[in-house]
Amino acid sequence: MKLFVYHTPELTPTDKMPDCAIAVDVLRATSTMATVLASGGEAVQVFSDLDKLMEVSEKWPPDKRLRAGERGGGKVPGFELGNSPLDCTPDLVQGRRLFISTTNGTRALQCIQDAPIVLTGAFINRASVVKFILEKQPETVWIVGSGWEGSYSLEDTACAGAIAHSIVQQTSLPLEQLAGNDELIGALALYSQWQDNLLGLLHLASHGQRLLRLECHEDLKYCSQTDILDVLPIQGEPGVLKKHK
Ligand code: MLT
Repeated sequence: MKLFVYHTPELTPTDKMPDCAIAVDVLRATSTMATVLASGGEAVQVFSDLDKLMEVSEKWPPDKRLRAGERGGGKVPGFELGNSPLDCTPDLVQGRRLFISTTNGTRALQCIQDAPIVLTGAFINRASVVKFILEKQPETVWIVGSGWEGSYSLEDTACAGAIAHSIVQQTSLPLEQLAGNDELIGALALYSQWQDNLLGLLHLASHGQRLLRLECHEDLKYCSQTDILDVLPIQGEPGVLKKHK
């Protein structure tokens, strides 16, 4: 197995696909997706375009759908939800499909959606991602950070490092054999330095600071927890994620 990390969708190769690709947007899209599916949501369907989201979700029974729209960290007017995982309680999401569009997370998913296996990962469901990878043993695995509008995000690369760290710990493979690119080594080093203070890292991160300005302190606390949800979002049809059974 070879693991590769790409910091942003823009830095992700477009001329090939891995056997398995993992989209990461710790703050907050992939944390929200894991939470929705762990809370009994039927599926999460992602869109880069808000109008397209409206058009497709209109055809869905109103009592079976929820619409979430986020731009710049805030909720899009007219949508029921923004992108806070804490809003996705079992009472609200049980049996419903979440139609969601976010600034960066949905773009990361779109750039890998042709891979044969597409997963989403965050700190909160890191163990479920790693368990799947170790069971399936794909030849090539890409971990793709969402970044922020084309630039690097500290928290996504740290989460890529958290996934890689756990895989390294649980296999006997030497790092020289597992590491597919230099970014993977950098991600591991970042996670190793911050693993005991992930909330501190999220507070330093530029998008963490943006969310703090929007009074999202509790979201940062929630998203900084590791391995708290036993749930793995996996793509069925393109753009639709369901809970892996
Ligand atoms: C994104 O997709 O850019 C993020 O999830 C933004 C957010 O924190 O809502």
